[in-house]
Amino acid sequence: MNPRVAELAGGEPLLVVSDLHAGYGKMEILRGVDLMIAAGRSLCMIGPNGAGKSTVLHSIYGFTRITSGSIRIGGQDVTALSPNEKLRRAGIAYILQDNSVFPEMTVEENLWMGGYLMETPARAKEAAERVFSKYPRLAARRRQPARVLSGGERRLLEISRALVMDPRVLLVDEPSIGLEPRYIDMVFEILSELQRSAGKAIVMVEQNAKKGLQFADVGYVLVAGAVARVGSGAELLNDPEIGRLYLGG
Ligand SMILES: Nc1ncnc2c1ncn2[C@@H]1O[C@H](COP(=O)(O)OP(=O)(O)OP(=O)(O)O)[C@@H](O)[C@H]1O
Ligand SMILES: [Mg+2]
Repeated sequence: MNPRVAELAGGEPLLVVSDLHAGYGKMEILRGVDLMIAAGRSLCMIGPNGAGKSTVLHSIYGFTRITSGSIRIGGQDVTALSPNEKLRRAGIAYILQDNSVFPEMTVEENLWMGGYLMETPARAKEAAERVFSKYPRLAARRRQPARVLSGGERRLLEISRALVMDPRVLLVDEPSIGLEPRYIDMVFEILSELQRSAGKAIVMVEQNAKKGLQFADVGYVLVAGAVARVGSGAELLNDPEIGRLYLGG
């Protein structure tokens, strides 16, 4: 393993992915991916289309077929857990790409869905209140159908829904996709606050590589199912080759 992977984790790693081989059906996509990140730190994966960035998130969450390697969280091996168990027992949440809100349900009903794994609906509602108290912008619209939300508010709802279970690790695929610039900044501010104040570990994929690397403590470049480069976000931002290949200049 590249020794910088451990160094860049930024402390005792909370999430450790080791030599992961995974894919869909018979097709192997990831060919030995290593990844480490500590609590309160963020990591952004960039790379060409089809490199396997989303597949890394899918694999951590349990959506792929893992053929070898492991995923550990807080020292515990969670490789074989199902997505539901990942969320409930391992504290890993996966924030879906665009359009995962239920438009005809109210904002609060959408948020309650985030607690569907809790023992009782009452517990889910309690947890949802905790999230509402953090985001008055959503609370103000709680009884309105989610379809009336702006694009930025919708993304906020998607993120909030993942927070109902109070996860330790947030997997975020393309947080800025489909958003106007002013909302993109809002979403990155929310993620930043979750990282810095709430101590979440964030692993994200961002098509807007520049934004992603500006945001994240650590950057990984994924090429053809393997980690081709690692560095601090700033290091990769200032690397001329990365600039030419992925930052449009
Ligand atoms: N559910 C799936 N079933 C089968 N193959 C898939 C599935 N999802 C992705 N793949 C394949 O896995 C490979 C990697 O895809 P992945 O979505 O991880 O790439 P990516 O780096 O996220 O790309 P992009 O930047 O376009 O989002 C691609 O060849 C893709 O066709
Ligand atoms: Mg993707």
